[in-house]
Amino acid sequence: MSVAANAGRGQDAPHSDALVIFGFTGDLATKQIFPALYRMVKTGALTVPVIGVASTSLSVEQVQQRVRDSIEDHGKIDDMPAFDRLLSLLRYVSGDYKQPATFEALKAALGNAQRPAHYLAIPPALFETVINSLGAVGLAKGARVIVEKPFGRDLGSAIELGAVAQSVFAESSIFRIDHYLGKEAIMNILYFRFANSFLEPIWNRNHVASVQITLAENFGIGQRGSFYESAGCLRDVIQNHLFQIVALLAMEPPAYQGYAAVQSEKAAVFHGMRPVTADDVVRGQYEGYRNEKDVAADSDVETFCALRLHIDSWRWAGVPWYLRSGKCLPTTAAEVLVQLQPPPQALFDDSRPQGGRANYVRFKLQPMSAVALAARVKRPGKGFVGDQRELYLCEEALSEGSTYERLLGDAMVGDGALFTGQDAVEAAWTVVDPVLVVHHAALPYAPGSWGPAAADALIAADGGWHNPVAEDEHAPCT
Ligand code: BG6
Repeated sequence: MSVAANAGRGQDAPHSDALVIFGFTGDLATKQIFPALYRMVKTGALTVPVIGVASTSLSVEQVQQRVRDSIEDHGKIDDMPAFDRLLSLLRYVSGDYKQPATFEALKAALGNAQRPAHYLAIPPALFETVINSLGAVGLAKGARVIVEKPFGRDLGSAIELGAVAQSVFAESSIFRIDHYLGKEAIMNILYFRFANSFLEPIWNRNHVASVQITLAENFGIGQRGSFYESAGCLRDVIQNHLFQIVALLAMEPPAYQGYAAVQSEKAAVFHGMRPVTADDVVRGQYEGYRNEKDVAADSDVETFCALRLHIDSWRWAGVPWYLRSGKCLPTTAAEVLVQLQPPPQALFDDSRPQGGRANYVRFKLQPMSAVALAARVKRPGKGFVGDQRELYLCEEALSEGSTYERLLGDAMVGDGALFTGQDAVEAAWTVVDPVLVVHHAALPYAPGSWGPAAADALIAADGGWHNPVAEDEHAPCT
C-alpha cells in the first residue's frame, strides 16, 4: 500500500539497520520467526544484523543449531548460501530482562547500528520492563518497536501499556502485530471490497441482513494452559483477530491511498461498536479443559465464545454481526458469511425459509483463500424450483509462513498499513470491557462439537450458523 500521505513512516522512512528479537528461545521465534528470517534473507529483504536476546545462556553453535532445527522443522533449507548468510547476520545476547547489564550487552552487540527495530516476542508482563530499559540505555533513539499481541488484557491495562510505549517511542515507531492482518486472505477482504465497484451498492443495512464470522480450531490449548487461563477465547482471538476482520468488512472506503486513511477508518468501526453485554455473549468450555496442564480445577475460562455485535453507524445500523471461535471444534477453518436480504416477495415455492439461505457472500479465509457469491438458479424442468449455487473465486493458497515475513519486513521499512494503532486498540477493548467482568458462566461442550447449544440460540433468528468445512466441494484452488 502506498504511504504517500504518511510522513516519517513508509517507503520514504529509513530502513531499520538491525533487528533485535527479544524472546529468541521462545515458541514464537522457533515456530514462526526463524523460518520467516530465512525467507527474508532469501528474498533479499533482510541484510542487517539480527540480535537475539533471551535469558538462556547459549553458545554460538547452539544458537545456530536452534535456527537450523527450526527452519528444517517448518520447511526446509533449500538455499545453502542464504542460510549461511542468515547465520552470518546472527548475534546473541543472554541475560535477565530485569538487569540493566543485559541492555548494556545488547548495546555493545548492536555496534554502529543507529536505527534498530526491537521485536518483543515475549510475554506481555515483560513489555514494560523491556521498553523502559531500552529507553534508559539510549536504544530507543531512532529505533522502532514491534509488539506482539496481546496489547493489554482489558481497557485499563491497554491504556497503561500504550502510555509506557509512547513515553519511550513515538506512536509512528510502534508496530503492534496482529498476525491476522498479514494473512493473504484477510488482506484480500480490503482489496476485494475496494477494488470492485459491484459490491458497494449492496454493502449496507439495506441489503445485508447479518454477518457472521467463524474461526474454528479442532485442537485444544496444548501446553499453553497458564497463558490461556489468563486470557480465554474472547481476549485471545475475538477482541483482536476477529475484530480486525470485522473492521475490514465494515469500514468506510479510505478517502485516499495511504495507511493512515485505512487505520482511521478501521478505528472508526471500533468506535461505532456498541459495548457488548452479558446476554450478547455465550461462553463455552470444552469438557476435559480443567484437566489440562496448568489449568485450575474449577476454571471458568472460556475456550469457546460466540458474540453478537452491533455497529451503530449509518451503514450498519440494525445489522447484527455474529462472531464465533473455539478450541476443540469439529474442524480448523475460518470463514465470513455476509447474509443478504431475501427477495421482498416470495414468488416461488422454494423461497425462504423452506428454500434455505438467501443469497450471500462467503469469504473463506483458512485453510484456503476463496470468495464465493451464492445465487439461486432454476433447476431444469417445468417447476419453478431452484438451487443455491456458488460462483467460486479461488486464489492460490499461500504458505502461512509469509505472514511474519511480510509483517517484520513492513515494520523494518516503517510501513504501518498492517499494524494496529493505539486508538483502535483502546476502542476495541472498550467494546468487550463490560463482559470481561460481568458474564454468564462458561457452558460445557463436547470436544468435536460446535460448542454449547446456547450459541445456536444466539443466532437462530438470523438463519443459524454456517459451519465451515476445511475443504469445500469445489474444485481445488490450484
Ligand atoms: C493466536 C492465538 O493469536 O492465534 C491462538 O493465541 C490461535 O490461540 C491462533 O490458535 C490462531 O492463529 P492461526 O494463524 O493459526 O489461525
